[in-house]
Amino acid sequence: MSVIAPSALYPPTVTPPAGPLSLLQFLRRCIANPLSTFPPSAYEADLAIEEPVKGRPVAWVMAPHFVEQLLLTDSDATVKTEVEHRVFDPILGRGILTSDHGDWKWQRRALAPLFRSGEIATYAPAMSAAAEMQIAHWRTFPAGATHDVDRDMSAATFDVIVRTMLVGGNPAECTAVMQSGQRYLDHTSWTVALGLLRLPRWLPHPATLSNWRAARRLRSAVSAIIARREQAQIQATDLLGHLLAARHPDTGAAMSREHIVDNLATLLEAGHETTAKALAWTLYLLARAPEWQEAVREEVRTVAPHGTPLTPDVAGRLPVTERVLKESMRLYPPAPVMARTLSRPISIGGREISPGTQIVIPIFAIHRHRRLWTDPDRFDPDRFLPERASAIPRGQYMPFGTGPRICIGQTFALLEARIMLATLVRGARFTWDGRHLPEPLSRVTLRPKGGMPLGVDVL
Ligand code: HEM
Repeated sequence: MSVIAPSALYPPTVTPPAGPLSLLQFLRRCIANPLSTFPPSAYEADLAIEEPVKGRPVAWVMAPHFVEQLLLTDSDATVKTEVEHRVFDPILGRGILTSDHGDWKWQRRALAPLFRSGEIATYAPAMSAAAEMQIAHWRTFPAGATHDVDRDMSAATFDVIVRTMLVGGNPAECTAVMQSGQRYLDHTSWTVALGLLRLPRWLPHPATLSNWRAARRLRSAVSAIIARREQAQIQATDLLGHLLAARHPDTGAAMSREHIVDNLATLLEAGHETTAKALAWTLYLLARAPEWQEAVREEVRTVAPHGTPLTPDVAGRLPVTERVLKESMRLYPPAPVMARTLSRPISIGGREISPGTQIVIPIFAIHRHRRLWTDPDRFDPDRFLPERASAIPRGQYMPFGTGPRICIGQTFALLEARIMLATLVRGARFTWDGRHLPEPLSRVTLRPKGGMPLGVDVL
């Protein structure tokens, strides 16, 4: 077996700026890649408070106990930020992801039953079918042909979400949702940059028109999907069926049409892009580290030989696969940053933080923090061996966030990622050309710049 070249275990990262950025430098970097504006302190300090070039103070929170204080103990002192509203409101309205306080709480309680683990286990066949279909597609190409696995994983996870959420959905409407969501996310860094500089919302930028078009197309496709379901009067037990049947836990009222559109759009978007990125980066890491790839393949083949389906039970018996996924989401967290606005004064580590302060929890940097991790940029799945993982605090490793607003789709995503990764690695070998070094690019999710071209050999 080949020995992994040491450098292969250090995959691409983002270099922070050497010093403070001028307004123009900030704008340039933020539009190119918001992650490249994270200051060096995000990778080294516990807490860093900046008086920004323009606007309100920004508190960068990195120490795990401070993160836990903000997201758990003091979570009622925070709301979603103006920047997040600018980015998401046009497509997601005021659904679960973008609302706060009571409005958020009832949607969270109404949606929770959709994500019970018993319910999610019934989606496993759709997850393994999507991975098998992907392998069947690759089989139609010559062995070793190069494929953009980033694009392929987006299509495969969208297939899962459609099979689980929109049983019998109209393919044209579903494709419109996927394509317009992608197009919208392509240009979000403009909205982020202008929002961070607190420039007026109405200020046009080069992506204004294409964003507006993409948002309109996405929402009208989602509305059409809902209208079709209502007309057909199908009592499907898929996620959309549950959403339509959701009731306010106190009043018993159904969700308004607007809220159903907001939440379906949210679940379709949040529910596939993130898992797709987790899979694409994991396949990249495994292509760079063939010994780890072989270890995963061997583990899967032992528990589930070719031809046997990856059930939730089998997926729960794959510790190596799970460690690889966890380490991949440490190095490349699919949602690389969380942000909040402080709504009342709080004290963090003896520092008084005033209301209106923008809180940034830079997951990407915390996951590579110089003082929290040993050899932070190295791909080392054994960090997540049970005896070592139990020493990692919640606020140090949190690809799904933490606290009351922790990802509602976490169980769904973990099952999906395990089943799909196991199926893909069991059925195909992935190779790296030794040259492609994709920059991790923040476009809400963490995209590989230039896609993820890998050689694929169906076995
Ligand atoms: C690997 C896959 C995923 C990752 C890494 C991920 C990550 C996250 C993170 C970090 C948050 C917290 C955001 C914040 O606090 O600001 C979040 C929230 C959320 N995620 Fe996920 N997610 C994933 C998959 C999914 C899936 C599959 C779904 C649905 C099917 C989903 C739906 C949501 C929703 C609705 C929220 C908002 C929850 C709330 O505010 O109460 N996510 N996700």
